[in-house]
Amino acid sequence: MEKKSKLIKKGDLYYPGKVFKKKALVNNKKIYREADKDPVKFWEKLAKKLYWRKKWKKTFLHKPPYFQWFINGKLNITENIFEKNYEGWNKIKNKTALIWEPEPIEEESRKLTYGELFFAVCKFANALKKLGVKKGDRVGIYLPMVPEVIISVLACARIGAVHTVVFSAFSSHALQIRLQDTEAKILITVDGYYRRGNVINLKQAADEAIKETSIEKIIVVKRSHNEISWNENQNLWFEEIIKDESDECEAEIMDSEDPLFVLYTSGSTGKPKGVLHTCGGYMIQAYWTGKWIFDLKDDDVLWCTADAGWITGHSYTIYSPLLNAVPTLLFEGAPDWPTPGRWAEIIEKYRVTTFYTAPTAIRMFEKYGLEFIQRYKFKSLQLLGSVGEPIDESAWLWYFRNVGKEKCPIVDTWWQTESGGILITSLPGIGPFKPSFTGLPFPGTRFDIFDDKKKSLPVGERGNLVMLPPFSPGMMRGVYKNSEKYLETYWKEYGKKIYFTSDAAYKDENDLIRIVGRVDDAIKVAGHRMTTGELESVVALHSDITECAVIGIVDEIKGEAPVVFAVSKNEKSSEQLKNEIISQIRKEIGPIASPKEVYIVNDLPKTRSGKIMRRILRKLFSNEDLGDLSTLANPESVEEIRKIIKS
Ligand code: WTA
Repeated sequence: MEKKSKLIKKGDLYYPGKVFKKKALVNNKKIYREADKDPVKFWEKLAKKLYWRKKWKKTFLHKPPYFQWFINGKLNITENIFEKNYEGWNKIKNKTALIWEPEPIEEESRKLTYGELFFAVCKFANALKKLGVKKGDRVGIYLPMVPEVIISVLACARIGAVHTVVFSAFSSHALQIRLQDTEAKILITVDGYYRRGNVINLKQAADEAIKETSIEKIIVVKRSHNEISWNENQNLWFEEIIKDESDECEAEIMDSEDPLFVLYTSGSTGKPKGVLHTCGGYMIQAYWTGKWIFDLKDDDVLWCTADAGWITGHSYTIYSPLLNAVPTLLFEGAPDWPTPGRWAEIIEKYRVTTFYTAPTAIRMFEKYGLEFIQRYKFKSLQLLGSVGEPIDESAWLWYFRNVGKEKCPIVDTWWQTESGGILITSLPGIGPFKPSFTGLPFPGTRFDIFDDKKKSLPVGERGNLVMLPPFSPGMMRGVYKNSEKYLETYWKEYGKKIYFTSDAAYKDENDLIRIVGRVDDAIKVAGHRMTTGELESVVALHSDITECAVIGIVDEIKGEAPVVFAVSKNEKSSEQLKNEIISQIRKEIGPIASPKEVYIVNDLPKTRSGKIMRRILRKLFSNEDLGDLSTLANPESVEEIRKIIKS
């Protein structure tokens, strides 16, 4: 039995073990051929399995660069999670939907069944309605990993309000610009939450953020009972407003193309963009990608470690597991608090079967050493996933051996905030899995790798990863209130019929895709997406700084990390300036964007036309050969910076 469970290695490829393959929901390659014959028909067949109030008239409509799926179909995603769940409501209403593990060890965990979650969602949905929230209104959600984040998201979806979740570790300023853009009238937050043993007062950040926004009411979840400031006219306790509400709330009937949520992400310079996702297509993709890629079955427990404030949390902590009637696990705290064994303990405690995390976390545990996890057998684990950044071979093998015990397939899943759900990965019951390669496009989707002239590149040649029509149902439909940005970011490089992912990639001889990294100015810091342009604009806010450049450099644990080069106009000590710049970044964006280094320099290398040569800064930082510097207007800046970096 033991042998049959292990993955099978052939050359540099791994295949699922016999036991896994036999039980897998999808274990035959012919699914790719079937889907490729007619992707629209394929998705149509999948969409029919879910519950629609009214069937769509046309499956796919393409008016480049715009497209729609399941046109005129009517639905509500929460009906598919609750009373009309594919598995049958009677079967699942007493089943665990949500497991919540608080950070303090001594505190009791919480479990909610599907029935209990449904009641909570309906009560809160009714409370929102009473506050005047209507279909199409935007609601801001600034919550840490507590059950109420799921309740809030689903309550919005129940009544057709558009949720905008903002990562709780983002600063009040980051929250403010998102609230301004969405013009939300309601914000849901918490008194505080635990992080590494401290209570973080989130209400205070929320209070600061709502200045100059349209927020009329802040709903506050009572979590850590810390002291907070209170404005009688504007603040409401979550618990108070749901207390007397009915636990029944009729689902708002949504059009397939009505917005479900807006989630902000960084990319290609400027302010964060509000990525818009719609009800029908997103639901179909969330359901099926989760089902097939995580091989979700009745007795599974899914732990996706992503925060609900990111797309991975939206799709694989909230929507996908719940649509699939599988318990989803939510953990409030930091991965290594109070010890690096915390995650391992949680996996064992709840018998997690499906574990989905980012390479940064894997590298961090690798560095802590085996002593923290060796005593765990991880018998419950069946499948592992990786997301958010490239996973290097060493981290892959470490994960495979020490967590998956060589029996769990590893799905390395590529996707983006824009794609709504996973789009490239090997399917676990089919394989092959190859360290640092993500796999094949999900059935029913088409990708290619292009050079600058739109030519498809052969095996081994690196180019731009693009997606070809019909695109997937869960793809973004636009940038909120900014169609120009939508056109310019995604549909300019190769025209209006080819989606530009902003990632570089290449294929191997098995057609498996390896993601090399972003080709725009986005960097992935511990899996978190931000842009160097966005960081530069924050540094430039400092009144002493005349010019600056931010680069992403390789970081052993975080994958990438920002490094700042700034030119100051006065004599303030570099130490003081550095600290001010760091606190400015933390204040404007959040601690996740803290730079690894800040260098105060006299000049930045520039071309004669005045363009800052970030490429040279990167090479200087990593001590590489700089090549020809004759095109620089100020070659002397290079030596000065080299000295500063060295010292
Ligand atoms: C990167 C996260 C390599 C990629 C779901 C993409 C990956 C960006 C992988 C999107 C992976 C995501 N291997 N790189 N498996 N998954 N990426 O919007 O550069 O936060 O464009 O969505 O993360 O980041 P986002």
